[in-house]
Formats: sequence, structure tokens, C-alpha cells
Amino acid sequence: MAPPTIIPGSASGPFAEALARETGALRLAVESKRFADGELYVRLLGPVGNHALVVQSTPTAESLIELILLQDAARESGAKHVTTVVPYFGYARQDRAFQPGEPLSARAVARAVGAGCDDVVTVDPHKPSLLSHFGVPARMVSAVPQIASVLKSWGVDTVLAPDKGARDRAEEAARLIGAGVDHLEKTRISSTEVVMKAKALDVRGKRVAIVDDLIASGGTMVTAAKHLKAQGAASVVAACTHGLFTGNALPRLLDGGIDRVLCTDTLLSGPCNCDVVSAAPAVAAALRAAAVAR
Ligand code: R5P
Repeated sequence: MAPPTIIPGSASGPFAEALARETGALRLAVESKRFADGELYVRLLGPVGNHALVVQSTPTAESLIELILLQDAARESGAKHVTTVVPYFGYARQDRAFQPGEPLSARAVARAVGAGCDDVVTVDPHKPSLLSHFGVPARMVSAVPQIASVLKSWGVDTVLAPDKGARDRAEEAARLIGAGVDHLEKTRISSTEVVMKAKALDVRGKRVAIVDDLIASGGTMVTAAKHLKAQGAASVVAACTHGLFTGNALPRLLDGGIDRVLCTDTLLSGPCNCDVVSAAPAVAAALRAAAVAR
């Protein structure tokens, strides 16, 4: 079977490159510019073949529009099967109407993405329930094994989830490392601030990693680190799949009691002032498994 053709979106250049290395797939050049009124224009500069892999994270509305245009360009160029790889799927945190009148954004955006392709692969979505909204087969890939392997090499002996909802991910990391696991109890008070209930933790002298799906403002990690250091943790690593790092998140983390930051390359756009492990091998393995099943 001929390898698929990778169509990289501008939010996922380095990830698409890593995926091309892992899969042996050809990476198509894409012309991308703006019309005078600000609208996006894309054009695929080469043949697409039968199977196109559109690779684009969606941290912004612009990146989402670009993804939809690339899917359509792939179809127009004759692709019989379009797989959309969304390394980081934005809008996934609004997964229910928290107040009357709100949309279920995760579902609305997933439907829009699913309408333009035959299947979807995404990495560590905020909740697995996202997969049910695409209207086409969708698979999630976990980057926890990659993260755990780095944490193990750093000598981490305790893994914490920032809240109960994130506990499954932390438990999986702890199991792979052979470390202890617990969770904190977080309540969000604004987009950048959280509070955590006082909780006695067995962390004295321990090398702790807090494992979450994403870091945005860094508020969650910094608040957790404060509790952990106050209870005698020897070191605290902040680990996540998606390094959104909004505003001054990275300096905030490093000034706020976090000794080291680890994320994957799902949102990488250039050099990053933290440790990065690639999620591309895990996505490549999932694509291979799907090709065998088709
Ligand atoms: C929330 O439910 C997510 O899993 C993350 O814990 C959260 O988005 C992190 O945001 P921040 O870094 O701004 O605290």
C-alpha cells in the first residue's frame, strides 16, 4: 500500500515533519496566504494521492478554519480517503453547558472537523467522550507512555493529578514508571487562578511529577507546586501533553516552584524553553494499526 501524503497545517509544521519521518510519508508543500480582507487562502502544491493525512492542531479559530480549508483542498485534489490528525484539539474543555445558554463547544467543533474527512486521530483529548462527536470514526492516541519514559529517566518517584478528573492519566503514568500516585483537589476561580484544598500528601523528600493533559496559564501547576513544596517535596516537575503556555506561563512555572517542565510536540512551533518529547511515534503507530484494519 502506498504511504499517505501528509498535508501540514501551519499550526503543526514540526509535528507533521516528525510524523513524515516516522511514517515515511511524503510531506506536501502548502501555499498559504491572506486575502486583503484577512481571509485565509491555501493551495496544495503537488499531487495528493489516494490517502491524505491533514495534520493540524487547533489552538485558535484561525487554525481551525485552515484545517477545514486543507481538508477540502485534499478532496478537491482527488484524495479518496482523508484522515485528519489533530495533535491538539482546541475547544475540547467546554464539554458541557456549564451555564444556561452556553454551547457544547467540543461537540460543535468536532462535528465541523468530522464533516470534512473520513476519520480522525487526536492526541490526549481533554476527555475521551470528544471522540463520539465527530460523526466519523475517531481514535485517541495517548502520549502518556512517552511522557512516563522521560519522567522515569529523571528519577520521578511520585505522580500527582491536579484533580480527580485527571487521575486516570496520572495513574497510567505512575504504573509505567513504577511510582506512587495521588490527586489534588482543584477548584478554578478564574482563567489564570485556581485554589487547591489542603490535603496531606506523602511527598516528603519525593521527586514528584504533576501530570495533566495541558498547561495553559500555568496556574494549576504553580498552585500544586506550592502545596507540594510546603509538604517537603524534593522536586516538582510539571508534565503535560499539550504545552499551550499562554501569556507568561513558562517563566511563571519556573519562578513558581516548578523545577522542570515537560510537554510533547503537539503544539510545538519552534524552539521551546522546556523539555519536549515527541508524540509522533505514537500517532504513527495508531495510523499503521488503522491501515491494517481498513
Ligand atoms: C483543565 O481542566 C485542564 O485539564 C488543565 O488542568 C487546565 O486547563 C490547565 O490550565 P492552567 O494552566 O491555566 O491552570
